[in-house]
Amino acid sequence: MAAASTTTKTKLRKTTKAIITFIAAYFEDSNIHGLQYVVKGGLTTIENCLWLTLLIISMYFCVEIGLQSVDRYYTKSTVVGLERDFYYWNTTMPSVTICPLIRLDIKLFNEYCRDHNLPPQEQHDFFEFMENLANSTYTNFQNIPNNNTIDLTLDRLNITPDKYMELIYNLTGDPSIKYKSDLNDLADKIRSTTGEFVIETRQILSEYGLCYMTNTMLSEKFTSLYLIWGEYPVNEIKGLKSTLQVKQSSYFDSDVSYNFLGFNNHPIDGFLHSSYEIMQVDHNLGYTNESLQVDVDCMEIITEEGFESGASVEQRKCRFQHESNLTHYPVYTRNICLQECRLNLVYKTCKCIPHFYPNRIQNPKTVCNYKILRECLVQNEHLFIKLYEVDANGNKQMVPCYCFQNCQDAIVNKRSKFQLQKTNALVGGNSLLFAIINLPTYRLKRLIIFSFTDLLVSIGGTAGLFLGFSVLCLVEVIYYFTLRLLFYLIKSCFTKQN
Ligand SMILES: *[C@@H]1O[C@H](CO)[C@@H](O)[C@H](O)[C@H]1NC(C)=O
Ligand SMILES: *[C@@H]1O[C@H](CO)[C@@H](O)[C@H](O)[C@H]1NC(C)=O
Ligand SMILES: *[C@@H]1O[C@H](CO)[C@@H](O)[C@H](O)[C@H]1NC(C)=O
Ligand SMILES: *[C@@H]1O[C@H](CO)[C@@H](O)[C@H](O)[C@H]1NC(C)=O
Repeated sequence: MAAASTTTKTKLRKTTKAIITFIAAYFEDSNIHGLQYVVKGGLTTIENCLWLTLLIISMYFCVEIGLQSVDRYYTKSTVVGLERDFYYWNTTMPSVTICPLIRLDIKLFNEYCRDHNLPPQEQHDFFEFMENLANSTYTNFQNIPNNNTIDLTLDRLNITPDKYMELIYNLTGDPSIKYKSDLNDLADKIRSTTGEFVIETRQILSEYGLCYMTNTMLSEKFTSLYLIWGEYPVNEIKGLKSTLQVKQSSYFDSDVSYNFLGFNNHPIDGFLHSSYEIMQVDHNLGYTNESLQVDVDCMEIITEEGFESGASVEQRKCRFQHESNLTHYPVYTRNICLQECRLNLVYKTCKCIPHFYPNRIQNPKTVCNYKILRECLVQNEHLFIKLYEVDANGNKQMVPCYCFQNCQDAIVNKRSKFQLQKTNALVGGNSLLFAIINLPTYRLKRLIIFSFTDLLVSIGGTAGLFLGFSVLCLVEVIYYFTLRLLFYLIKSCFTKQN
């Protein structure tokens, strides 16, 4: 028993010795500076220790600075630069959303009543109810009528809150321009025009019900039809010679305006925003019953080539529209993200969401009954719109919304607004004319200044500076402790057996 333990001990000692010899041999051969002095024979222990300390300090700084480079790569690798050669680029005009304040199509409503045998005495109240529901947003939920006949009518027609938006859609129709044949008879179509061109226009689902947006770069997934029914809208006028998706103009163009019209003589509310954005319900241009001209200033933010693939979303801290991680919306913009944040806040507070949010998700959220709209949502109106609360000390308590900016965007400002005299009769109804008086002479460009290649060079440079370390050194380490070790073991086994 004792003899066996001694042999194990000597064996162990032998193996340890072999390992140390092997590692020492590596230190002596290695290309890393200073390593050989640590084990070199003929030097005093003090010298060995001095070299070891130096080596450890160098390694520490190497790792420290390497980590700083990694941090820079992940958090500060992009910047926004300024571009000034304005002779060579085209500026995209801002986009506009208009909400008509008379919502339902009376013909469609009458047809619906006929089809569902609604008694005439109920029709009036029902119309008032649907019209106000369609016109509702965070500021005017209290206008929705609340009387007993409504409940009876809704029961009879079997309209539950999750059907509100479908029904509003069915009773509104979509008068925006879609078909080739519409181009021949523009009179009662909602469209926008610039010179002899027609600009694509679409109906959208916004926090202010069904509205119309023109001159937009957003995907066709952001349309009322797609958000409510999940279908792509018809768009026959796309790509025709006489139509444009967006109006662009160069510094030398004289005609930089477009006219958004087709709203009959109904009052309208307009919202100005960039062509990569959507409206915000609390930033309107004001109600109007007249045709207006609005002069705007705009500065674009673009991205350099390869920006999207060159950095991840977290690195660039901005999203492209197709990089949506939202639950209710298939398209990303900052304002849509804020809408979803608001939606979640409403859901948390009132346990349901208003009907004007798309709800085509796996577990649809409960849609608010009109009574809850009149109570819970009216009570918290300010918080829901502004997304902050003022506490007892007068401090703003922001609702946490983590919304990245849009990578491509524009900063749009209204300069002035004035009424156009007597044009309603001329163009057949209310219209808004948008003009850029001075085209921008600079624009912003998102750039990558610290790419993955830069990271490699930086880490490699640091390792070289402090340790004289290179890629080949790394290969050497790996080689030494795999292939070399294997051969060493085979050889030593072989000699032992002899
Ligand atoms: C600007 O627009 C004009 C016509 O709309 C077009 O011919 C030109 O190629 C555009 N320039 C750039 C840089 O896109
Ligand atoms: C729709 O709401 C706005 C206020 O948000 C109001 O001024 C307008 O009169 C309403 N329209 C109708 C038809 O009630
Ligand atoms: C709206 O119209 C569609 C198609 O015509 C129909 O299937 C749907 O039931 C209607 N919705 C309501 C709430 O009436
Ligand atoms: C979307 O991404 C942002 C930032 O990456 C994150 O804060 C947010 O929680 C994400 N939203 C959802 C709904 O996953």
